[in-house]
Amino acid sequence: MKVLILPGDGIGPEIVAQAKKVLNQLIEGGLTVEISEAPLGGAAYDAYGAPYPEFTQKLAREADAILLGAVGGPQYDKLDRPLRPERGLLAIRKDLNLFANLRPAILYPELANASTLKPEVVSGLDILIVRELTGDIYFGQPRGVRVNDNGEREGFNTMLYAESEIRRIAHVAFQAAQKRGKKLCSVDKANVLETTEFWKEIVTDVAKQYPDVELSHMYVDNAAMQLVRAPKQFDVMVTGNIFGDILSDEASMLTGSIGMLPSASLDANNKGLYEPSHGSAPDIAGKDVANPLATILSLAMLLRYSLNDEARAVRVENAVKAVLARGLRTADIYEAGTEKVSCSAMGDAVVAAL
Ligand code: IPM
Ligand code: MG
Repeated sequence: MKVLILPGDGIGPEIVAQAKKVLNQLIEGGLTVEISEAPLGGAAYDAYGAPYPEFTQKLAREADAILLGAVGGPQYDKLDRPLRPERGLLAIRKDLNLFANLRPAILYPELANASTLKPEVVSGLDILIVRELTGDIYFGQPRGVRVNDNGEREGFNTMLYAESEIRRIAHVAFQAAQKRGKKLCSVDKANVLETTEFWKEIVTDVAKQYPDVELSHMYVDNAAMQLVRAPKQFDVMVTGNIFGDILSDEASMLTGSIGMLPSASLDANNKGLYEPSHGSAPDIAGKDVANPLATILSLAMLLRYSLNDEARAVRVENAVKAVLARGLRTADIYEAGTEKVSCSAMGDAVVAAL
């Protein structure tokens, strides 16, 4: 199996370095993978003049699984849009057809106080957000800024979903629900947007093939509210690209820190790109204070979904639980009575626990 590592920008390289230590430990223990590395985002722009250059694309297409840190930084904000780091991320998702984005939001019992919500609201929380990742207003054409008939400038994007795109993500979500609590909530804005009314119709049709899963529908504004009011009512949520982007950030904070949450972006054959749900955090980059656990947990997802190695995935997850149980905390999840450690010390502790 070929694993490609894309450290990216900002805190990307330092958090990925910790996941690499974990991966190397697994290799010493008998895991056989071939590792390569390439730049993506701003780092790729610096090296090759493009956020998703051919060098990276070639390795990405050949890989079975990809581990990514994060992309973006203020120094790239003034570049033309096609050259910006975020475009590199969108381009690799689209190029590899990674349409199924799995974003779990799990509350580790030790971190119940790290959430801004009351512990009783979030304790035991275990939600999976299934976000469609290669369609919707993110990619719909036409898009741009133009001068309208009145001579005024206007911006426009197109919310667009083909039936096949909705069907395939619905199947992923129903199958995920079958393996969990057998409840699926499809999130839309069917009261206003035709695209999402169509979404609802197709998801309802796919549901006929999954009679063991209880399907519900919720408008996105209500879903945003319910996530902070009573998040434990949810098991699996499925939604389009833009709603999923927003709701997954919201769900992540229920768990105390976005620094804890991994994600997987899969194609139809379980080839995947794995990345922490958080961004490149340029303000703390290079300071060795970032939380590497989301990246290490992303490696666990990589083992589970793309390398089909459930045993090693569980070992990595258990190692993370063990360091939390020992009271080790990076700054983002620190509270009185625990031990504050650096990014690299957290990585070392996970390797030791492994
Ligand atoms: C995410 C990010 C990206 C997105 C950005 C960086 C393009 O917010 O992965 O959620 O909007 O998909
Ligand atoms: Mg986002």
